[in-house]
Amino acid sequence: MKTLIINGSPRTQGNTAALIEELKRHLEGEVVELSAFRSRIAPCVDCRACWTTARCVVRDEMDVVYADDFDNVVVASPVYFSTVPGQVLSLFSRMQPWHCAMFFLKQPLVQHRKKAAVILTGGGKGNCEGAFHHLRAFFRMVNAHGFREHMALSLKTDTIPAWEDEAAMESVREIARWLSGDEPA
Ligand SMILES: Cc1cc2nc3c(=O)[nH]c(=O)nc-3n(C[C@H](O)[C@H](O)[C@H](O)COP(=O)(O)O)c2cc1C
Repeated sequence: MKTLIINGSPRTQGNTAALIEELKRHLEGEVVELSAFRSRIAPCVDCRACWTTARCVVRDEMDVVYADDFDNVVVASPVYFSTVPGQVLSLFSRMQPWHCAMFFLKQPLVQHRKKAAVILTGGGKGNCEGAFHHLRAFFRMVNAHGFREHMALSLKTDTIPAWEDEAAMESVREIARWLSGDEPA
């Protein structure tokens, strides 16, 4: 079993990092973590090569996602302006080749069904509806399911750091149990 964790926080010792560490402590199998901030994944520039080839011409760490060899995908991110940070949206924009394969070429790339989970941290202002909107679109592209039922939210980190938020920590452990279990996606 292989789990891909997309880390949307720039902070290595921050709230999202604490919840990711708890997840890794309880997760079975191989874990690959992709940092949206440190990987320098380029945003899509709408070159449109993928309109006919369904492949991206840019070679960078997005190849980790394009490999499509993972069983679970977790997006763990802070909330910025009620959605995920721009670097995470840049990463999501690189799903455009898969979008083209599905909707323009009518030949969806073979993507086995995966489990999806979400970890979000927020200071306490605003809501995460924007994040859910973007996450739903991303998970649809990678054929990953179940994130609405498998979320860990720590949304008052200005006053309660995520590592002291026992409800969020327990939700993370529940996510680990679900991802590690036999229940189908
Ligand atoms: C640019 C920016 C925008 C933010 N926007 C929001 C927001 O809309 N809602 C919210 O609850 N917190 C917001 N926050 C607070 C972060 O989500 C919060 O501090 C989070 O726990 C940081 O996670 P980290 O320590 O893992 O990086 C924002 C922080 C920054 C830097």
